[in-house]
Amino acid sequence: MSQLASRRIVLGVSGGIAAYKSVDLCRRLIELGAHVVPVMTDDAHRFIGPVTLSALASEPVHTSLWDDASVIPHTKLGQTADIVVVAPATARVLSAYATGSSEDLLTATLIATRAPVVVCPAMHTEMWEHAAVQENIKTLRRRGVHVVEPEIGKLAGGDVGAGRLASTDSICAEIIRVLELSHDLAGIDIVVTAGGTREPIDAVRVISNRSSGKQGYAVATVAAQRGARVTLITTVDRAVPAGVLEIQVETAQQMKDAVDAAAVSADVVIMAAAVADFRPVICADQKLKKADGIPNIVLESTPDILAGLGQRKPVGQILVGFAAETDSLVAHAKAKLTSKCLDLIVANDVSAPGVGFGHDTNAVVILSPNAPPISVALADKHTVAHALLDSVVKVRRQKQETK
Ligand code: C5P
Repeated sequence: MSQLASRRIVLGVSGGIAAYKSVDLCRRLIELGAHVVPVMTDDAHRFIGPVTLSALASEPVHTSLWDDASVIPHTKLGQTADIVVVAPATARVLSAYATGSSEDLLTATLIATRAPVVVCPAMHTEMWEHAAVQENIKTLRRRGVHVVEPEIGKLAGGDVGAGRLASTDSICAEIIRVLELSHDLAGIDIVVTAGGTREPIDAVRVISNRSSGKQGYAVATVAAQRGARVTLITTVDRAVPAGVLEIQVETAQQMKDAVDAAAVSADVVIMAAAVADFRPVICADQKLKKADGIPNIVLESTPDILAGLGQRKPVGQILVGFAAETDSLVAHAKAKLTSKCLDLIVANDVSAPGVGFGHDTNAVVILSPNAPPISVALADKHTVAHALLDSVVKVRRQKQETK
């Protein structure tokens, strides 16, 4: 088995008792064909000796930002890695990574790399369940970091609970999965929209909706990690991975202009944005005065961006819509799939708890004209984004086969 042949894995080891298990992980990664470059924090040295890892990896253990005068070690490690894995990841390392504080070689490498990152937390249950640690995990996930959750079991000192480092098997499986995903959209141009449009009433007021843009950003983040060239057309401002081209817009018309221009050369267009269906016919130049009484705001329809793209879809292009519904989810979504000439539609029941607008989680049904529906149960929006992009990969393959 050489599933990791010629893969360069930076293996970060931080200072917890589970550091001894990193030795087994290092050995298994090498058996799978990887070239392992170990990086240890100062505290990790209290648990295992660097010679153990360097002997297994046939590579000196890197420990300090200052131990190699000829190169900048953290950028070199980050740039040459196919993947960075931190096992065990302590609460301190997770915190430094989440806040962007590059306090030692390992955390500097995490900030410097553009390779996918897998963190494998291990700590006592009280620490793992602490709000600060959970917030950091949430932040890292939102940025596209892969987390191999700790297991429940025996911990140091005879305690039992959640916090034990995941098994070597689970960590290896996740590394293989992430590396496979990291290039299945390579060379594909994807346009993603995110957020709710804002339609001006006057100089200060707008008509808008509750969309947070989180699902669109998750799709853009995951698509970039899987190798796509991503253009993100958005009404909100959130963190995206380096390399994603972000275009800020506000109104449905601005979004249409930006999407139409970008869609000309796109392989895939994913309309995750909640585009306003109506806008005021007139936008007052000045703020409307309360003293002048209740204004009579007349609305008109906005252009349907996706329907327009559907009508002039180039051969081979994949169009994906979202359908936020509160009733008859699948029936309404199917109707939109057909009327807008889409390849896929992601339907979510926004009246269900934890689903849709503003939440970090979503539950969706992915529909396509010729395949059975795929249900994704309540999960974080990155998981939903992966499921959607899996469907995009399938549709693309089918289109190429029938060419
Ligand atoms: O018809 P409905 O608005 O429910 O369709 C939702 C889908 O259509 C979403 O993908 C949304 O981004 C897109 N849409 C659009 N232009 C509009 C309204 C919705 O592209 N004016």
